[in-house]
Order: sequence, then C-alpha cells, then structure tokens
Amino acid sequence: MPIIYDAALKTLSLHTQNTTYQMLIGDTGHLFHLYFGRRVDAASLAYRIIPSDRGFSPNPFEARYHREISLDTLPQEYPGANSGDFRVPALDLIGESGAVGTDLRYLRHEIRAGKYALSGLPAAFAEAGEAETLSVTLGDAATGLEVELLYGVFEAADMLTRAAIIRNTGTSAVTLDRVASLCLDIPFGKWELLHLHGRHCMERNAERVPLMRGIQTVSSRRGASSHHHNPFVAIVAPSATETRGECFGILPLYSGNHRTDIEVDQTDSVRVVSGINPDTFSWYLKPGDSFFAPEAALCFTDGGLGDLSIRLHRFIRRHIIRSPWKDRRRPVLINSWEAMLFDFDSERLLRFAKQASALGVGMMVLDDGWFGARNSDLEGLGDWTPNAAKLPGGLRPLSDAVHALGMKFGLWIEPEMVNELSALYAAHPDWALTVPGRNPAFGRNQLVLDMGRGEVVEHLFTVFSALLRDGGIDYIKWDMNRNMTDVYSCALPPERQREASHRYMLGVYDLLDRLTTAFPEVLFEGCAGGGGRFDAGMLYYTPQIWCSDDTDAIERIAIQQGTSVAYPVSAMGAHVSVCPNQQTGRSVPFGVRGIVAMSGTFGYELDPAQLTEDERQMIRVQIDRFHRWYDVIQCGDCHRLTELEDPGDFTAWEFVTPDKSRALLNVVTVHTRANHPGAHVRLRGLDPMGMYRIDEVCCEGCVNPSMDAPLDGAALEGRVLSGASLMYAGFTLPPLMGDYPGAQVSFVRVGPDGGIL
Ligand code: GLA
Repeated sequence: MPIIYDAALKTLSLHTQNTTYQMLIGDTGHLFHLYFGRRVDAASLAYRIIPSDRGFSPNPFEARYHREISLDTLPQEYPGANSGDFRVPALDLIGESGAVGTDLRYLRHEIRAGKYALSGLPAAFAEAGEAETLSVTLGDAATGLEVELLYGVFEAADMLTRAAIIRNTGTSAVTLDRVASLCLDIPFGKWELLHLHGRHCMERNAERVPLMRGIQTVSSRRGASSHHHNPFVAIVAPSATETRGECFGILPLYSGNHRTDIEVDQTDSVRVVSGINPDTFSWYLKPGDSFFAPEAALCFTDGGLGDLSIRLHRFIRRHIIRSPWKDRRRPVLINSWEAMLFDFDSERLLRFAKQASALGVGMMVLDDGWFGARNSDLEGLGDWTPNAAKLPGGLRPLSDAVHALGMKFGLWIEPEMVNELSALYAAHPDWALTVPGRNPAFGRNQLVLDMGRGEVVEHLFTVFSALLRDGGIDYIKWDMNRNMTDVYSCALPPERQREASHRYMLGVYDLLDRLTTAFPEVLFEGCAGGGGRFDAGMLYYTPQIWCSDDTDAIERIAIQQGTSVAYPVSAMGAHVSVCPNQQTGRSVPFGVRGIVAMSGTFGYELDPAQLTEDERQMIRVQIDRFHRWYDVIQCGDCHRLTELEDPGDFTAWEFVTPDKSRALLNVVTVHTRANHPGAHVRLRGLDPMGMYRIDEVCCEGCVNPSMDAPLDGAALEGRVLSGASLMYAGFTLPPLMGDYPGAQVSFVRVGPDGGIL
C-alpha cells in the first residue's frame, strides 16, 4: 500500500519502491513533517524529532505551557505565517480585516486511487494502478479558508508530486500573497544546493554551492521560468557524486515567475519552499472561489546525481509529457534560421528542402520571417498571414512541395508577442501589457500580449487553428523572445493587478492545451530565445524544447549536461550548425558537432548549399548513425560519466537501452593535451554478467600516430568484454589529437555464440 494512515499514531506515510515520506497530525492539529528519505516501514518516525525549548520560539495556544512545542522549531508540511513559525511560510495572506497570516490545522484526509489533476495547470498523470493520491485538508479558523494539500504517489517511478488548492469557505475575501506548491523541511544533515543558472545563449549550467545559514533563493521575475534561473533545484549531500550520495530533487511544473527559498534555520534544519514567485503575485480570493497552486514533483535517492536524473527523466517521459509524439520516432529536421535568417523566398526554401532531403533529412522547418511585413525583427509579429512577396500563394504550395519530397513541414510562431509595427497592434493596442501613463520597455522591438485575457487567447486560437488546419503543418516551434515588463492588465480591477503574471501563464497553458488537443498529430517544440522557458510545465504540452540559441558544440556540452540533471535527452532540441560558430566564432570538427547534437532531438541549422561535399557526406553518415542508435539515445537512460562541474579534459556520457542490451558511449575532449593516457571511463547501467561486443568506434579527430596499432578505433571493434569489466575496470579510448576531438562507441550484448541477444 503506497499510502498508509495509522489512526492510533496519527501518521500518514507515503511509500514508493525505495522511499518513504511521513507526516504526523500533531495534538494541536498542526501537520508536522517527520521524514523523507530511503524507504523505512516504521509506523511512526516521530522519535526522530526531539521537541525542546529554544527560546524566542513561540508556542501554539493549546500548548502555551509547553515551551518545547513550537512551530518555529518543528518540521512542518505547509506552514502559515504570523502564527509562530518565523521561517519562510508556504502560505501568506491578508484578510479583509487587514489581519495577516494563517494558523492551519488538520480537518480531514482522503486516500484516492489514481492521480489528481489540476484544473488549467500542467500536472503529472498516471495510468490505472500507477499512482495514488493523498488529500489532506487543513483549515484556518480566522479566515474560514481550507487548504487542500495534494500528494501524488508514484510507487514504481519512485516519485511524489505535490500541489495545493486554497478554497475560500469563509464569508469575506482574502488576498493571497504567497501560495507555495510545497514545503519540504529536512531536519538533519549538512547539504548543498545544486541549481541551473545561465543567461541567453548559456542556459542551465549546473552550479553547486554550500547552504549558508540564512536564506538562498532561486527565482525568476521575468514572466518566464527563464534562461537565468531554472526552477529545478536539488538539495544534495556534500559528498554526493554522480554515482552515490543523498539527493533531493524538486521539479516545479510551472513556466512563469517562480521562487524556491532554501532556509537554514537556527537548528541547521533546512526548509525548501517552492512555488509561484510571491514578489510578483497576489490573488484576490472571494468567498466560494478556489486557487490552485502549480504542481511540483519531488524525489529522493541515495544513489547520487546520476540516479536522481534518471528517475526524473523517466518520470518526465512517462508521466509529464503527454504528446503522442513522446513515444514516436521524431524526424531529423533542418531549420532555416541560422541558414537564412529573414532572407528567403519559396524558391530558396524549396532548394534548401531538396538539398536537405537528398542528405536524408526528414523535416524542413521554416523559422521566423514568413508572415506579415516580417523582413527583420522590427515588425510583423502578431500578423500571422503569410508574406505574399516571399510566399506567393501562401504556405500551402510550399508545404505541399516539401511533402512531395517525402519530408515533413514545420513552422515557427511566436503567439504571445506583438510588434508595435503590426496590424494587430494597430487594431488592439490595449492587448499589449503596458502601464497606463508610462511608456513601456521594449525587448527585441516587441511587446507582450496580455495572455490573461480570454479574448486574446480566443483570437490566437482562431488564427493558429486555421493555420494548422489549412497549412499542411506537421510541426510547430513555439517561441517567446522577450521577458515581461510593464505588467498591467486593462482587463483587471486594481485589487487584481498582481494576478496578471500568473493569469498570463494560465492563458498560455490554455492556448497550448487547446491547440495540442485539437491537433494531436502536430509535433510542438517549445522555445524562448533558445531555452528561456525550458521547464516541466512546458514539457507537459511540448515534448521537446529548443535548448539554446548557442549552437557551439563545446558550449552546448555544458548546457546539455546541466539540462540533463533534470530533463531527458528526448526533450532537448539540439542541431549541428556551421563553423566558425555564429555565437562564439569557434571551430569544432563536424563530426563532434554531430555527437553533441545527437544527444538531443537531432537536426541541422545550416544551409547544405554552403557546405563542402565532405561535410554533406558527413551529414548522411550522421543521420544514418542517429537512426540506428535512435532507441538507445531517445528511449534509453542517460548516464553522465564525468562529474558535472569538473569533468576534466573530456566530457563523457552514455546511453543504455532499458533492457541493457545496447549502449552508446560519447566522449568529447574539450582540452587536448600532449602525451595523454587517453580517456578512461567506467560505463554504467550494463548487465554485469552480460557480454558486450564493441560494435562501432567512430573517432572524430585523429588517433595519435605514436600509439600501438591495437589501440586505434577500428581495432577495438568486435572485441567482446563483460559488462562487469566495462563498468568496474572501465574502458580506455585511444588519445585523440586536434581541436576538440571526440568519439562514439556502441556496444551490443551478445550470447555465448557471439550472436546479438
Ligand atoms: C529565437 C529562437 C531562434 C530563432 C529566432 C527567430 O531566438 O531561439 O531559434 O527562432 O528566435 O527570431
């Protein structure tokens, strides 16, 4: 039984295959957190928490003569404010009387089969028998509010989800100032914070820092989950490595302004509070109304960061991404952006498609510039009718011609935005977010539409559903190329203005939901100036997201390795582009660009007409390899074989199929050194008793000529080694020379007769 209530001990326990989460309904009715960690089947772990009088930590009214009982020092499930806990609250509000805060007490609970859903928000889902739900309702006597805490228990996946619904069952309105998705108190231990920071063209680089006493915050106020501070965080033991050590992962399913506060308190207890960013939020909740806090997924492992990541990847692929494309083979695409920017017409596009098709590319994506008066980023956003000069006859003749080549056809859109120079802005200036009396700030020459308004979403649904119905479109790249300023909605009264950012996200989710439901066959890729909205909320609607506008393969290694801490390879948009690279000016071998891009949803961002014949041949070879290794890369587990923050001279990662029958090792040298012993790695995830044949060794870069012949790539092919040897004794690649050399080595499990198993 994954969820157990012990009526005598007043404990509620959530069990997954390897973890236990336990809470206690205290004598005062407060809901205390007892434990989250490796599985233990004890009915009560209350003995772990020793209440003691710590001074300056107040006592609840009923326990006012027991100075050891304090909300300020005991671990809690969902702390309110202004009632005895001075740490970061999960819920904060102001009532009509002006009274601030809540004192939440247990009212009831319910255990349900299946996984709860959240109206209007992305939420993990489960098939019959895969999940159970615990609902615990707390009440606040002063305001009459009820707070329903929701726990999704995915036993086999070893994951939990949390969310909260605030219901105003009282008689007067309240203004919610903070509604967290979760609070996790970790009462013991020393911990570090791992987070994914960045900037445009450098998203999700992993950084690990010790927790200081005080509060550390990871947040965004940009109206998007942001390039700068991804909402995912992990709390990890200082000794945790890729292969061992305790780690907690917190994965918000939210794409707007988020904030996670990590507080180390007076007793060194760690509190993590994660949810919508309260800095830019409030919500006016009338009697009878409800507010849904977005979901966050939660997991624990003592198997290190590698195990944490694999758990999250599997969970996202199975329980968060809902597109039918999640299990389908996605086409290798070529995108027009870096190849031609705004400078194209249908003839050039068709030539581009023909050349790509001859190389084995399966889909052509027409990026920005196809609509309205869009010849630069100065104008046209909002006018989603094909530019007649570039596309005479519209999109259909082009998509038909592309289809006739046997390719799919994809299109770029940026629904949430408008240029001042556009017919849409001329017709509806009030649809853009602007503060009355103040000139708005511009970003990339554009303004942000007020997606919180029903008529804006309705208009966009009408426009894009017509486009998808008539345009012969197989794929959409949904972009968002600036962050939000001047957040003010003409459609909201003054007391609701701080709802605008969250209402914006609800509008985006609504539009995504309607379009992806109406057009389930269309493959959607998310994007926000690269990876500025790469989060689990978006992945619910779009099974892949363009990882970064930085296509430099060496930069991409850090971006994709950092992204892989939480998000699966099948979700990472990655393309081979030309060198010198447009963002860094660096040159990396074509083959190595392929290794990095095929550790994502593989594609190209270049004009084949500008390539040499050798390079064109490389494309054929890469696409052939990608197709052959597709299941290993896209459906397998991804193991980082080098440490995230300090990989050394080379970075190595490996994919293994779920049945452990095939594996692919990838190595890229970022710092070539003389007289090097070669890249030595220990593989992971294989069957130790199994025998593996080295199937292919593809070296990109030359092998040091002074090496013994048996160590060169081709000589390794055909060797049979045990899984145990590869994992425990390890594998050494011959040292490669040149700038940024790399290699891919594939392994297949074989039987005693040498046949593939
Ligand atoms: C963003 C995207 C790019 C490209 C441009 C087009 O920057 O990340 O890939 O689509 O917009 O304007």
